[in-house]
Order: sequence, then structure tokens, then C-alpha cells
Amino acid sequence: MTQYLADSTRHPHTSDRPVATTDWWRDAVIYQVYPRSFADGNGDGMGDIPGIRERLPYLRDLGVDAVWLSPFYASPQADAGYDVADYRAIDPMFGTLHDADGLIRDAHRLGLRIIVDLVPNHSSDQHEWFKQALREGPGSPLRARYHFRPGKGEDGELPPNDWESVFGGPAWTRATGRDGKGEEWFLHLFAPEQPDFNWEHPAVQDEFRSILRFWLDMGVDGFRIDVAHGLVKADGLPDIGAHEQLKLLGNDVLPFFDQDGVHEIYRSWRRILDEYSPSLRPGVPPRPRIAVAEAWTPTVERTANYVRPDELHQAFNFQYLGTKWDAAELREVIDRSLDAMRPVAAPTTWVLSNHDVVRHATRLSSDGKSHDLRRARAASLLMLALPGSAYVYQGEELGLPEVTDLPDEARQDPAFFRAAGQDGFRDGCRVPIPWTAEGASYGFGSGGSWLPQPEGWARLSVAAQTGDPASTLELYRSALRLRRERDGLGAGESVRWQDAPRGVLSFRRPGFACTVNTTAAPVTLPVPGELLLASSPVEVTADGVVVPADTTVWWAV
Ligand code: NOJ
Repeated sequence: MTQYLADSTRHPHTSDRPVATTDWWRDAVIYQVYPRSFADGNGDGMGDIPGIRERLPYLRDLGVDAVWLSPFYASPQADAGYDVADYRAIDPMFGTLHDADGLIRDAHRLGLRIIVDLVPNHSSDQHEWFKQALREGPGSPLRARYHFRPGKGEDGELPPNDWESVFGGPAWTRATGRDGKGEEWFLHLFAPEQPDFNWEHPAVQDEFRSILRFWLDMGVDGFRIDVAHGLVKADGLPDIGAHEQLKLLGNDVLPFFDQDGVHEIYRSWRRILDEYSPSLRPGVPPRPRIAVAEAWTPTVERTANYVRPDELHQAFNFQYLGTKWDAAELREVIDRSLDAMRPVAAPTTWVLSNHDVVRHATRLSSDGKSHDLRRARAASLLMLALPGSAYVYQGEELGLPEVTDLPDEARQDPAFFRAAGQDGFRDGCRVPIPWTAEGASYGFGSGGSWLPQPEGWARLSVAAQTGDPASTLELYRSALRLRRERDGLGAGESVRWQDAPRGVLSFRRPGFACTVNTTAAPVTLPVPGELLLASSPVEVTADGVVVPADTTVWWAV
């Protein structure tokens, strides 16, 4: 018997469903919308909130629990919105606060939660506070909300320390005085248009508590905390004494990342989130509000510090994202991740793609450059079989590859324009997604798309894949439906490994088993139960199951 998908074309949710009220986030599947590239409602070539609102039913039918939106705030877009000029306003290119309110209401009606992106490490250089600080000049107390320092050297012509920007080049830029001469320097761990806040300053702390309340009052269900590991800098801003400092992150705590002081901030935020979580009306169940940390730390054990019971709820598992398609390495990172989170009673998260990394349909290929849909599908099914919460980046459910041939003139990633920084090719995963097989921008919008979409994406579009049992979209739909139907999936905090040949992962969860063949050859295994779903066709016979190369299979046991 050859089987492909179990009941693959049944759509999981065709009507509104109630918003889950308990600890929904512990096993939630959270879908990342990158607003620029999801759907364009007004035809200006750039995605926007009205576009997202129109497509919410698609996300409900996909079967995700929550939607995380990358920043949509007022911003000059020096770093695609991660440079915020006003934390309480929507950038006109994305819509209005009224649109955001409508989005939150529509989502809730459809049973979807909304998580917004909070960017507390830095603002835009067009933020009122920074403009004031520049205007007031050295010595002004208004400068203390950022990190201004005199330069070194005879004339202050050298940066105050040797820190490097994540995007390449020095992490300091010298301000220019009214007389046109260089004066103090300011710190920016990212682009010069993103000056770092000084989190020792009470006004900064108060301001962000107020911003949290603003969005909680708007009804959001949580926050994704950008650069959560970066807010506090080591006393005295000490030199590091080495180049390529980001590469040290795997082993060392850098003076600008993962400082112990950040945790006090998250404890104060947790108190606010908890304040908003209980129900205000008797008889109405609580609606927990959550926060997820984008925290780059040397180890998963240090990542666990961010999700202690009185801090944030989740942290992205970048160690998992960075793991090769290798059974032994995957097993090790899965175990380490689960072991690290168990003592703090936080769910582990799993993520394969986001707006900063090469899409996993390309990254996991043997040369890291080709489109390996087969492996991507296997990796996705493995991720969705693990206990905890999973993050899905828009377009991965379509099996989209990284776009590797964008012309330089189309690129917008600031890292691309700064030498030797974070690889600088993040535009390749940000190309607007295809909705229909026809139309200039595959249904993204009526006015083209801000980054050119490749030829051949018609067959990857939502319309082309819908109803095709062999498609990646239907694979995700089936997987997410099964996750909802089976308690053993998602929930819990461990997996039971089974003996398996080299290159094969086999584990059990309550009522469920998962088999992953990471090798290039088929393997024959005993049949552990009833076939639920497979990332490519598998053959089940009386003698066993033949699991082809790069394939994941789900079983009911
Ligand atoms: C992490 C975000 O994901 C990335 O896109 C951004 O460039 C940096 N933080 C700086 O905000």
C-alpha cells in the first residue's frame, strides 16, 4: 500500500472557532507575518494591514493558533521597520491604528491570537528623543537616554570602544555639532539609524512599560521582544579586544549581549503581562498575554534564563534553527533544548525559518544553495512533532525557497550595504509570497511587489497548492489539524527515543510516533502503528515500512 497523506484535503477549520483560553502558548503554532511581504491591500507594491486582514481566514484555515507580526510602527524603514520612530503609531505605508484595531478584532473573531513585535534595544534616529538628544548637544541630560560618549584620540576622532555593529563596521557613529565638526559618538549595535537606548535610565524603563500597556489595551495577546539579549550593556562599556565579535557569541558572554541585568527588566514586564491576563469579569476565563524573547545566547541553558517563571514565556530556539540536517545533531539539540527548559517549566520552541535567515527549503539542502523541498518538508514535519511551541515563517508552508539572485539595486537590507556584517542577504527570504498562479505579483497585490518575485512561483502559490494532496501547503494543513486533534502532539516536555539505524530518528509521544530518515537512501523499518502523515510517499507492507530518503512519517500508536 502506498500512502501519501492522511485525509489531506480536508480543511481543518472552515468556520470561526473560539479563542483558547488556557495556557494556549505552551504548544501553540505561531505564524510569522512579515507585513511588507504578506499581502498588499492598497496596490502600492508593499504589504499592509488591510492586506493581512483580508487573508486572516487563510491563516485560520491553515490551523495556526497565533500570528506574530514583524514591526508595523512609524519608521523611516532603515531596517525594514526595526527602526521605530513612534511606538504608538502605525506607519502610513502599513495603514492606521484603526486598521490595527480592526486586525486584532478580526483575528480574535477567527480564533487567532495577535503578537506584536516590540523593539526595545534601539529606536530610530528619527525618534523624537534621539532628535532632541542630538539637538541639545553634549552634556544635555536628554542624551542620557541613549549611549553618547566622547571619542578617544587627540581630537575624539576614534570610537569610544572597539565594539562592532551586528551589521558590520563599528558600533559607534560620531554626531556632528552645529559647527559642522564631529562631537560625541553614539552607540548602535545595528545600523547607525538605530541608536541604542540606555536601559539604566528610568525614563527608558517607564516608557517601555507604558508602550506595553498601550498595546495590551489595544487587545494584543503578546509581544515578540527584539534583541531581548541586548538591552543592558556591561558597566564601563569595556573593549572586547577581538574582531568578528559576533562569532564569539557561541562561547562567550559579550559585554553588549546577554548581560544578567536584562532579567530584571523582564521580571517587571511579566508583572504587567500578568496584570492583563486574569479576567476582569467574573465567569470569563483568563486570557494569558505572553512574550517571546529573541535572545541570542551562547547556550540553550542561558536561553532558559529568559523564561524563568517570573520572566518571559518563550524564547526562540536558535540552536535548533542552526542545526544541520543530521540525525545525531538533531537528536542532541532536541534533548538539550528539552532538558534546558524543564527546570524552568517553560515550553521549548522550535523554529526553522524567519525573516533574518536563509529559508530552510534552501538552507537545509546539501550544498545550502539548492531548493530541496523534500528535506524541507521532512524537517517541517519533524519540527511539528516535537513538544512545545512551533514558529512558522510566512511562505514556508508553501515550500518557498530562498531567492538567491536578487539584483543588488533591489536589495534593501542595511547589512548588505555595510561590509562584513551579518551576512547581508536577508532580502532573499523577504520576497512577497505568491497567492495566485496569475497576476503580475502572483496575487500579492495589484501594484507589483517591492522585491522582484522569481519566475516559476505560480506553481508554489496558495491557489495552485490548495486541494493538491501532494502539495506542501496541504501537508502543513494536515499536520496542523493533527496537532490539534491529538493531545500527545505539542503538549508535554519530553520525547521517548527508540532504537533506530544510523541516520534515522525514531521517537514516541503519548499515542504518537515519529520516524525521520535523514539519509540519502530508503530504510526499511518495523511499522510502529497506523500511518497518519508522511512528508513523501511511503510504502507500508506486511514486512515493514519503507521510509524513503529525507522523509518524516507520523504514526498513531
Ligand atoms: C532582529 C530582527 O529580527 C532583525 O530583522 C533586525 O534587523 C534586528 N533585530 C535589529 O532590530
